[in-house]
Amino acid sequence: MELEFAGRFLVWIISILVPAVVLHLHLHRRKTISRQRLPPGPRGWPVFGNMFDLGEMPHKTLMGLKRQYGSVVWLRLGSINTVVVLTAKAAAELFKNHDVAFADRTITEVMTAQSYEKGSLALAPYGTYWRVMKRIMTVEMLVTKRINETVPVRRKCADVLLTWIENETTVGGSSVAVARFVFLSLFNMLGNLILSRDLVDPESRIGSEFFTAMMGLMEWGGHPNIVDVFPCLRWLDPQGLKRKMNRDLGNTYEIVSGFLKERMKEREAEGAESRKKDFLEVLLNFEGNGKDEPQTLSEHELIIIIMEIFLAGSETTSSSIEWAMTELLLKPETMDKAKAELAQVVGPNRKFEESDIDNCKYLQAIIKETLRLHPPIPFLVPRKAIHDTEFMGYHIPQNTQLFINVCAIGRDPECWGNPSSFRPERFLNLKTEYKGHHFELIPFGAGRRICAGIPLAHRMLHLVLGSLLHAFDWGIDRDFDDDIRDTRERMGVTVRKLKPLRAIARKSQLN
Ligand code: HEM
Repeated sequence: MELEFAGRFLVWIISILVPAVVLHLHLHRRKTISRQRLPPGPRGWPVFGNMFDLGEMPHKTLMGLKRQYGSVVWLRLGSINTVVVLTAKAAAELFKNHDVAFADRTITEVMTAQSYEKGSLALAPYGTYWRVMKRIMTVEMLVTKRINETVPVRRKCADVLLTWIENETTVGGSSVAVARFVFLSLFNMLGNLILSRDLVDPESRIGSEFFTAMMGLMEWGGHPNIVDVFPCLRWLDPQGLKRKMNRDLGNTYEIVSGFLKERMKEREAEGAESRKKDFLEVLLNFEGNGKDEPQTLSEHELIIIIMEIFLAGSETTSSSIEWAMTELLLKPETMDKAKAELAQVVGPNRKFEESDIDNCKYLQAIIKETLRLHPPIPFLVPRKAIHDTEFMGYHIPQNTQLFINVCAIGRDPECWGNPSSFRPERFLNLKTEYKGHHFELIPFGAGRRICAGIPLAHRMLHLVLGSLLHAFDWGIDRDFDDDIRDTRERMGVTVRKLKPLRAIARKSQLN
């Protein structure tokens, strides 16, 4: 506690000493850009800019700025120029006419640990490496054909989840830690899809080491870091986040490197015919075009991409399921409608399958409504202006950081009636999808940097939610009543429910 206080004190002292330099640089830069027209925004403090205006949940706080400043707001976060997009209309203009200009990413300091950013697809600058990796992921790894081939893998993991919950209800009797079980199950699903191995197996020591270290990455990756707004403090690492990230990334790196070596040995021993059909094989089989592309992926790139799929795919999907279940428990009539649809489409004595998704329109509407109200990544993955750009009549200087506030867009009253209420019915007569063409619903982003995992996320979300709803009758545990109704959020790599969801599950009469 004392150490933490001393750390914070140090940060403030340094933040007060450094201003002389920063202020000088800032005034110089401000003079240069103020000649052009920047978007409007709240006046900031000298040096700190608008840092203190963000509040604990910046996506919620910034939503409120629309009334005063309009769709596009200018902020200065420490020394970082930032533009925030707050409406679907402004997002449409951005993605249709300025997507390339904002196709680079802002890279936070912790993501440079172990040179993570050099192998990452999500953080890669807009260029050859990004193009190659995005192609591998979208055209070879996550195409419908391969996703269909891996249906049994996801089925097996969903079955394990149902068994965990059933055992818990018979052994524990009371409520189930839904959020925890769903997270473990989706993490395991990714482990099986990428590496053909159960990583959340209590028998597997290496699996649990990997899982623990990955949890660390998610923790440090989502923590606000003063160094990101005052890069001049980088050398000091005042919150120790880079050190912790280095440690946990180092551990996962070693473990994944071991998985890779094991696979290379297997490939040598077994030959082409008996090779596994997982994502790792796709990565190992990559051959560049021999022109601007590398011939194969380096070991570093392979390791980082494997980690990235876990980072990008586990919290996002599991926090969405947690919110969907929370909303359904709070609105029993909506839960009843969903169960009635499943009873009709799936019927008794059978489990919910991925092939049922297309016939379950209400379930699809629930997932869309959940992602509209609770986008797991509320600012998308921050982008950066590659060059000076004119956007909606404003001048956006090169290197400006761009936040697209999908939380505000999902609650934009110009697009959504009664925007704060959870009403899946709104989607039943709409053709709105979340694939990046309807800018009022972009939880996966849009444009060139749109999420690479949408087809897989779509299957995972529907399979897990459909299976949970069809297999069990759910209710609120009186002892945790307040926790369920408490819909406050917690910021990490994704926005999760502050109080993890627990609920009562009883085996459904239908199964
Ligand atoms: C509910 C589930 C998910 C949500 C809400 C989500 C959301 C997002 C968002 C908002 C972005 C940034 C888009 C932008 O900047 O326009 C993104 C990027 C990305 N996502 Fe997802 N994601 C999900 C699941 C997944 C899964 C399952 C995978 C992989 C298997 C994945 C892989 C990626 C990758 C690689 C990128 C970087 C793309 C690029 O920079 O070009 N995501 N995701």
